[in-house]
Amino acid sequence: MDREQWSRVVEAATRAPSIHNTQPWSFSVTGDRLDVRTDAARALHTLDRTGRQRVISCGVAVEFAVVALRAEGVDVAVELQPDPASPELLATLTVTGPREVSEADRALGAAIASRHTERAPFRAQAVPAEVVDDLQRAAGTFSVWLKPITEADEEVATAFLVARAEELEQSEPEYVEELQRWLRTDPAATDGIPVVSVPAEDPATRPSNWLIRDFAVGTRPADRSPFHNPDDPDAPPPAVERPTVVLVGTDNDDEIAWLTAGRALGQVLLRATVAGLAASPLTQALDWPATRTQLRGRLSLVGHPQMLLRLGYPSSDRTPSTNRRPVAEVLTFAD
Ligand SMILES: Cc1cc2nc3c(=O)[nH]c(=O)nc-3n(C[C@H](O)[C@H](O)[C@H](O)COP(=O)(O)O)c2cc1C
Repeated sequence: MDREQWSRVVEAATRAPSIHNTQPWSFSVTGDRLDVRTDAARALHTLDRTGRQRVISCGVAVEFAVVALRAEGVDVAVELQPDPASPELLATLTVTGPREVSEADRALGAAIASRHTERAPFRAQAVPAEVVDDLQRAAGTFSVWLKPITEADEEVATAFLVARAEELEQSEPEYVEELQRWLRTDPAATDGIPVVSVPAEDPATRPSNWLIRDFAVGTRPADRSPFHNPDDPDAPPPAVERPTVVLVGTDNDDEIAWLTAGRALGQVLLRATVAGLAASPLTQALDWPATRTQLRGRLSLVGHPQMLLRLGYPSSDRTPSTNRRPVAEVLTFAD
């Protein structure tokens, strides 16, 4: 692997989704080894006190690097938290030898560039059960479970907790301040959430059971009536969006579990992209210990929920791309 190849791999890794697009990572290459560190200076101290979502984000970056390396024609061994004396060193990827690149390797590698978080309403087209099964199997190879929320009572309980958490968050000034700090109006910004990637409409007025995170909180008018069309108050309510929603979780709840959940999420998102799907995380209910614990109780989960994802077919083929910091800012070569 030469420097150019490593730079390509790291560029692919940085295309990983991250909480508030904080990109909380750095990379270093020593010979045939890539070290992935977390950058605690990019932590979200209010939304993510324990660093769980920061570590999950880095786990996705690890998996995107693995996928990119396979697409480059090399096999790789991954060690998580290899050095207890360096807790910020989350993973080490070591090239183990050449690999014959399969069609699937190529397709997953190509999906890294086209995957994006799609918050707009999805088309009214069900996600086929075989696709959900494939995502479930992909997560299972990491010993991570993926549970589709299909039963009506589970859906009601989960959607309620998402809405409850969103309400709690909006009433917390520190949360709102942190969110606003990561919103970007400058299209050239290399991190944070660009305002163009979040729907302008108020999520509370969307005809959906699933409330997406409101990134423009604090700027909404007070009278927010659901499903209200101000241009035509007598119009019938629009069709209700029914995305497929899946919960991804782990048996344990430590940093290794978070990293592994991130790796599984990386595979799930890329496979979903190859299948023509898009996704957006709905993690509000998992931000807070109280609603996260309630979710475990209401769904009788044995393990720990790590990520709630809405999945569906995007209603436009526009691929909004959220910027990343340049590779030179996050990659160093040790030799
Ligand atoms: C752990 C984690 C939690 C996230 N939570 C949310 C969320 O609650 N709502 C949302 O709209 N996006 C969420 N995102 C998506 C990020 O905002 C998104 O990945 C980032 O802005 C980069 O954009 P991209 O995914 O389109 O590349 C989350 C991403 C990660 C990795």
